[in-house]
Amino acid sequence: MATKTGEGFSSSFGAIMAAAGSAVGLGNIWRFPYICGKYGGGAFLIVYVFFVFFIGMILMMSEFVIGRRTGEDPVKAYPKLRPHRPGWRYVGLIGLVTCFLILAIYLVISGWTLNYFFESLVGTLSTIPDDGFGAHFNQFASSPLRPMIFIAVFLLLTTCVIVAGVEKGVERVSKLLMPILVVLLVFLCIRSLTLDGAAAGLSYLFSPDFSKLSGEGILAALGQALFSLSVGMGVMIVYGSYLPKDDNILKSSIWITVCDFAIAVLSGVAIFPAVFACGQDPTGGPGLVYQVLPLVFNTMGPVGRIFSVAFFLLLSLAALTSAISLLEALTQWVSGEKIKRTPSAIIMSLMVIVLAIAASFSFGEGIWSGIKIAGMQFFDFLDKLTGTILPPVCALLTIIFFGWFMKKDDIMDELSNHGMLKTSYFKVFYYILARFVAPLALLIVLIAGIINN
Ligand code: PHE
Repeated sequence: MATKTGEGFSSSFGAIMAAAGSAVGLGNIWRFPYICGKYGGGAFLIVYVFFVFFIGMILMMSEFVIGRRTGEDPVKAYPKLRPHRPGWRYVGLIGLVTCFLILAIYLVISGWTLNYFFESLVGTLSTIPDDGFGAHFNQFASSPLRPMIFIAVFLLLTTCVIVAGVEKGVERVSKLLMPILVVLLVFLCIRSLTLDGAAAGLSYLFSPDFSKLSGEGILAALGQALFSLSVGMGVMIVYGSYLPKDDNILKSSIWITVCDFAIAVLSGVAIFPAVFACGQDPTGGPGLVYQVLPLVFNTMGPVGRIFSVAFFLLLSLAALTSAISLLEALTQWVSGEKIKRTPSAIIMSLMVIVLAIAASFSFGEGIWSGIKIAGMQFFDFLDKLTGTILPPVCALLTIIFFGWFMKKDDIMDELSNHGMLKTSYFKVFYYILARFVAPLALLIVLIAGIINN
């Protein structure tokens, strides 16, 4: 592939695994179930499906086209397609800043996950009394030292993969980890569904309760759809620049989206029946995975430990392939003729760990929890900014650029692999979805969200 560094994926399969690896992450397994629980289960799911397929998937295709057409990082890609309007580079820049902020939060949560994996493995988690998990989590997450160790280990792993390269690092690790992740998840679903009382969990997840789906819930569904598909911040432009020339962009985007959606739903299926079967509260919020699930595992007897190790391993692996994509985007951006790939990755890692430590210190009852920005603790502020504000704004600008500023011939040429693929259904994608449905839906939800706040 003709990127500036000569890096690229070796095959369509490898590219799909890497992009699915980016998409499937904490967003699917940690965030989706608790947000879905909060905003009315099935009701949230209906809105979410619409956003995933009519906005998220369209954006993914658009970002892939922009990336492969230019072979550039997001900051250079926009002006390359529109040389007379260099201001578009700021959309790429906002996206990369968003990646940087997301990575900081991501590292904190991945650090928690790695710690819980470790604690399941050595068995300390199973010695905690039933009413002690909340306190255990709060004490761990707010402590000044222990989370930092796990954050550092996780970041080190991520950086090593990036340093190994796009094909030899990112692609290879994704091809290995994604199938393991699916097997683990299916194993957890089967176990959860065969517990007594599992049906109540399924009905909670799938029966719509529209009374809980407020305007806030709809905005959360949009933010979640973008976050989960890793779109609206340029990551898929970066992966697009590594796509093989003969990859069918529409087909790959559909595969990745379906895979991401299925894994989110399967995570709900793995978690809610178990939570209900053990009489726990399904609206446990962000702590659901760390406070409620370990208790659920403990009530299962000796097999619970295997379940616990499998679950936190699953979550760690999913987080790793997503963190890799975020660091890859930042690394591609700073590396060039003057700074090579390895120092770029190290510089970015060092910068982001500073922010991650600050975010960790500000969490819960941490040592910086008293410092507030816009009335929120720094961690919550970052979470809100990267979860519901920046990605929709950046996504709207991206889709407007794609639908209204990019040359139609360039788009058709890229989607059809220079005329090698049939183009009839690309027109539906372009004229209806990319130009009208996706930008209008994004605009409406954003305005409604602003008014609601
Ligand atoms: N999609 C990832 C998840 O669901 C998070 C992510 C967002 C990764 C943006 C890269 C870019 O967890």
